[in-house]
Amino acid sequence: MASLVLTLRETLRYRGAIGQWSWVLHRLTGLGVVLFLVLHVIDTSWAYFYPDLYEGAIASYQSPLFTIGEFGLVFAVVFHAFNGLRIGILDFRPDLWRYQKQAAYYVFGATVLVLVPVFIGMVGHVIVHYQKPEVYVMPLTEVLVKQLPFVAGIVAAGIGALILSFLVGLVTGSGERATVSAKHSGSRIERFWWSFMRVSGLLIVPLVFGHLAAMHVLQGVFDLTLAGSNVVGVVPETDTALAGDALAAALASGDPQALMNGLNDTGTATEFVAERWNLLWNGIALWRLYDVALLALVTIHGFNGLRYVLTDYTMERPLLRRASVYFSVIGALVLLIVGAGAMIGTIDTELISMAQESICKLNPAHATCGVLGS
Ligand code: HEM
Ligand code: HEM
Repeated sequence: MASLVLTLRETLRYRGAIGQWSWVLHRLTGLGVVLFLVLHVIDTSWAYFYPDLYEGAIASYQSPLFTIGEFGLVFAVVFHAFNGLRIGILDFRPDLWRYQKQAAYYVFGATVLVLVPVFIGMVGHVIVHYQKPEVYVMPLTEVLVKQLPFVAGIVAAGIGALILSFLVGLVTGSGERATVSAKHSGSRIERFWWSFMRVSGLLIVPLVFGHLAAMHVLQGVFDLTLAGSNVVGVVPETDTALAGDALAAALASGDPQALMNGLNDTGTATEFVAERWNLLWNGIALWRLYDVALLALVTIHGFNGLRYVLTDYTMERPLLRRASVYFSVIGALVLLIVGAGAMIGTIDTELISMAQESICKLNPAHATCGVLGS
């Protein structure tokens, strides 16, 4: 804790050096994206586990509070990515260190260059959305209440990690002072993590930029609940939804493409996810593979980064330091299991009906309810 206070005080006192600000921003943006990831992976898994809740989650993503957060999130991902690349390049090319200061300015410049057109595209989606006659805006209190289970889950993981750390301390009797932060311990395993952070960062760049381009610029968060999507890749082979025996046969075949042909896209977010995850491209579930790779890389990278940060501030306290490691491991495991679990299943018509009912309860004016009623 004392080291956290020291960091904050020194950062504010030590004005002007761009390297220091880059370091602080890298840390804050990394932590911000980890927090978003926790909500996002659990929410997304609901498309399979609880489609009714998923509709509520996407409705809260479409509320003004999340719209503001979305701009912050995109800034955080873009800045962290460019700054992470700078760190990686300078680590492997020490001869370039003399250009450190310029490199930090290039990172800020590249961030602004990318964000200007992206933000223009995102503002465009916001304007179009609020011009529609029937806009559903979830009340702020409801949006906040929906986040409470996450707060409870994070606190529970923290308490669990503390108890585990205490028990391990009792068994091993390790009460010695720990004075080395995780990333500076120099052990072979830490050298592995050091390389992993750089290699995974490099691989994450195209994956997360592609994902954000699809979800913010091409499709837009507001359009996830519009019938027909831009970013599925391939449209169903049939123009209209299958019905009766044809639908039953499609479902019985267990073939995701056949199931996709059977879906009548009425504009629920669950259908959007189903269309992407069920899509087969030359027999390969392309979007599932993409999301599995994204899930694995960002979760392991993000939670190892969280471990670095937490252990940096608990160097003098072995109990808290161990708990920081357990907390990061528990968090990563929960996200990997929940996120991958959702992708193993198939979103079928029964789950979609649940989603449709839920969206009509939230917003009876939604186009879906007209389709269902007719
Ligand atoms: C507000 C911004 C975002 C929106 C609207 C969004 C939307 C979505 C949607 C609709 C899915 C469902 C699967 C699909 O269609 O591919 C998904 C999955 C996923 N997204 Fe995002 N995404 C956003 C930002 C991000 C960011 C910044 C990350 C990484 C840090 C990320 C990581 C993932 C992962 C790992 C999955 C798979 C989740 C699972 O297995 O449960 N997303 N996202
Ligand atoms: C987009 C591509 C990304 C690149 C190129 C990248 C690169 C890096 C690098 C090089 C580090 C420094 C590691 C070290 O000090 O040894 C780092 C730290 C970190 N990253 Fe990323 N990263 C990326 C995406 C992400 C994402 C999506 C998250 C969140 C899910 C994240 C969370 C973190 C955290 C929390 C840290 C620790 C920060 C600190 O120690 O101050 N990163 N990243």
